[in-house]
Amino acid sequence: MDTATCQSGSGSGETIALVGATGSGKSVLTGLIPRLYDVTEGRIEVDGTDIRELTLPALRATVATAFEDPTLFSLSVRENLTLGRPGATEDEIAEAIDVAQAHFVHDLPFGLDTRIGEQGMSLSGGQRQRLSLARAVLTQPKVLVLDDTLSALDVHTEALVEEALRRVLHSVTGLVVAHRASTVLLADRVALLDNGTITHVGTHSQLLASVPRYRYLLAADDELDDGAEADPTWCTDDERRCAREDSEIAESSERASRDDDFGSLHSPAREARR
Ligand SMILES: Nc1ncnc2c1ncn2[C@@H]1O[C@H](COP(=O)(O)OP(=O)(O)OP(=O)(O)O)[C@@H](O)[C@H]1O
Ligand SMILES: [Mg+2]
Repeated sequence: MDTATCQSGSGSGETIALVGATGSGKSVLTGLIPRLYDVTEGRIEVDGTDIRELTLPALRATVATAFEDPTLFSLSVRENLTLGRPGATEDEIAEAIDVAQAHFVHDLPFGLDTRIGEQGMSLSGGQRQRLSLARAVLTQPKVLVLDDTLSALDVHTEALVEEALRRVLHSVTGLVVAHRASTVLLADRVALLDNGTITHVGTHSQLLASVPRYRYLLAADDELDDGAEADPTWCTDDERRCAREDSEIAESSERASRDDDFGSLHSPAREARR
């Protein structure tokens, strides 16, 4: 790696989607930013400062992360949510819950005061992911790093979260690991990772048009999208009737020829020709 810079503070940051096959290094790369791992060469800068020069509290206030398999602590929901921002107001907490579609917390026995991991409160994977996303959003970071954070959500909830995230990402620098076109579309640009190396950077449509490997990785989604966007072939009732009659004629002549073939296998004439 050379130098990776995150500029923030101008009011609108760029969001980069990281796309790559499983094991290509997406999580390792995203883990470098909150310094779960340190770079062995090159540097990562936020607003011109090497992240290794920031104190841990300063780094945590600058970079918020939400991972696929998030860590929640045996604390109340509120304490878990405000770990990155202890002074958050009720309105800010409510907004973060809204962005992450984590409204289920209000149905817990003691609402936001329910202790996670106790009182029989073991949350589902998708609930944990949404809490961790709300926590990251509540931090109001300069850099938001999301590694497969929506993977456990059903497509409808995912779409709601993405819609809200779009607003949040508008004002931060974002790094979003994406497996689906809908998540990629949250980003301004896409970096394609292959075996630990960023091989291409471009917009979604540029990569789709010019990089077969990128097309391949998002292929299942494209097929769905193509299907959803396919122009229906409209025809009048008469055309439909003609088409049905044509297909019936074709079917019956095919049946006749099949019968004929079958019959001819046993026909004396055919036997005689052999
Ligand atoms: N802590 C670690 N120590 C050593 N190797 C690791 C570590 N974490 C990941 N790797 C290896 O680094 C490579 C990239 O892993 P990484 O988790 O970044 O993949 P990924 O692109 O996030 O994949 P996925 O889409 O499955 O999450 C893999 O070969 C993996 O085995
Ligand atoms: Mg990963």
